[in-house]
Amino acid sequence: MRVVIERDAESVSRKAARLIADQVRRKPDCVLGLATGSTPLGTYRELIRLHREEALDFSHATTFNLDEYVGLGPTHPQSYRYFMQSNLFDHINVDASRTYVPDGRALDFEAACRLYEQRIKDAGGIDLQFLGIGADGHIAFNEPGSSLGSRTRLKTLTQETIRDNARFFGGEELVPRLAVTVGVGTILDARRCLLLAVGVGKAAAIRETIEGPVTAQITASALQLHREVIVVVDELAAKDLRRRAYYDEVEQSQQLLERGRLRELGIGTR
Ligand code: PGA
Repeated sequence: MRVVIERDAESVSRKAARLIADQVRRKPDCVLGLATGSTPLGTYRELIRLHREEALDFSHATTFNLDEYVGLGPTHPQSYRYFMQSNLFDHINVDASRTYVPDGRALDFEAACRLYEQRIKDAGGIDLQFLGIGADGHIAFNEPGSSLGSRTRLKTLTQETIRDNARFFGGEELVPRLAVTVGVGTILDARRCLLLAVGVGKAAAIRETIEGPVTAQITASALQLHREVIVVVDELAAKDLRRRAYYDEVEQSQQLLERGRLRELGIGTR
């Protein structure tokens, strides 16, 4: 896991947007896995700016979102389809027919979930999976106890998640009890993962994810098994990390490598 610690939420967003933009420039027809919630908002704002001011071109990209609330249709202001339209898709040049969000109103969820998995496969798999993390360590809506091999399916939300998301709905009783979510196994199939966290409320989950054991109780910890994960966090979310100094050293080496300053790393000096 590459752990990048940025000063604040704004620099976390800028860093994440740069990584996503690099992916889109390198492979214009890439497949992006996208996330909702408050954490990705700054990244989406920056991507919109890059599209407008630097002609970042999404016209060949395909996107798959992680999850959707059961019972909410695309025009419901709290649905994740609505979130994606208003916070990203309506402001960039992505082809609407290639933006996928799980259907929260399917009648046959088993078939809909199988089809979602199939569509990801047919698109060639996800090149870069963007992720937030819940205070309970969930990725997508893979709540504690979710199988680390799980695929897209229905999931019952925990009381903690319902409480965390009540602010968007104006009350806990208005938050749907179920969601349709890609599985941990679906996420692990992505070629690269980019996990963001900001704020002190995520510090414990981030520490468990990066430095704790791999456990279904913290589904984000399954990312330790993935071969290419970048975690970008702000100082507050990083505050409980024990190996902080080492992550900073790795980042310094990475920066030197990217800038071609190889001699400073002892490469080619002997
Ligand atoms: P948040 O949610 O970005 O709104 O904190 C993250 C999540 O629950 O995955």
